[in-house]
Amino acid sequence: MSMAISINNISKTLQNRKVLKEISFDVERGDIFGYLGPNGAGKTTTIRILLGLFKADSGKLEILGHDINESETRRKIGFVLDSDGLYDNMTALENILFYARIYGIQESGSKIDELLEMVELADRAKDNVSTYSKGMRQRLALARAMVHDPEILILDEPTSGVDPSGQIEIRQIMKRLASNESKTIFLSSHNLDEVQRICNKIAIIDRGTIKIYGGLEGLRKQMSKRLFIIKTTTDVPLQLQDELKQDPGVGLEEINGRELIFSPPESTGISDIISILSGKGIKIEEAIKKEDSLEELYSKILKETEIL
Ligand SMILES: Nc1ncnc2c1ncn2[C@@H]1O[C@H](COP(=O)(O)OP(=O)(O)O)[C@@H](O)[C@H]1O
Ligand SMILES: [Mg+2]
Repeated sequence: MSMAISINNISKTLQNRKVLKEISFDVERGDIFGYLGPNGAGKTTTIRILLGLFKADSGKLEILGHDINESETRRKIGFVLDSDGLYDNMTALENILFYARIYGIQESGSKIDELLEMVELADRAKDNVSTYSKGMRQRLALARAMVHDPEILILDEPTSGVDPSGQIEIRQIMKRLASNESKTIFLSSHNLDEVQRICNKIAIIDRGTIKIYGGLEGLRKQMSKRLFIIKTTTDVPLQLQDELKQDPGVGLEEINGRELIFSPPESTGISDIISILSGKGIKIEEAIKKEDSLEELYSKILKETEIL
């Protein structure tokens, strides 16, 4: 079966700036896919391309195996953009009815009640949206996006600007939609914590480039290593190499000539390794600490963005 979303080497230039640089990823059916990146990374631009609102300069995009410009494909997508697009002076019910009519959905009364129930707004259905909190608005926008029962939901930072308890509610709704109604969800976010809570697959985008992409579990395992790379000025004698290899507290993993790679337990610091080596008369030229967790990587990306 085709992928829910398959994007291949897509690039986009806006006002002479390359905003997306050959990005590629696949979203499988049933995924809650987290599209993570700081402000200005290119998330909204990607979403506009996914929805057919922007045309990519190059590359290939398929939604459920089809072109996004086919009207049948469009109908299989529900979306909430970064501005919620709700009508303030209409009630929640009227907002959804209005949308249902655009999709040509008739006799939608009970379906709409169900949707409002799902986003826990049934008791506020007849209030004007102008009286809603940001979190309530986002929930209503989610219900509206579901009116034509789409297979894929594309949500642009749905919890951004929502208070913490409101964020929890929105995340629960997204989880329910994925598990109970087997919707595929594509969710953009600048919050690693959020993405880790609900997504099974992620891509991290930074200044138009995909930095990391894959299943969350696998990525976490793969990246949870803390490595110390130590370069020595002289060769380490074989006997000492064996000794170091056999000491689990040292965690010597690899020797490439005069470069030693350690992956010790938390309790061992880089200074401990240095003093062990010095104690054996080994001189050290360089010692590098490499912390390869998702958190480290993302906080580095965030810091770099702040500087720009
Ligand atoms: N219509 C546009 N014209 C020119 N530049 C744009 C336009 N939309 C976005 N950009 C620029 O593209 C980059 C990515 O923006 P965007 O996709 O909105 O990022 P994100 O959603 O991740 O915050 C930013 O530098 C932004 O200023
Ligand atoms: Mg955005």
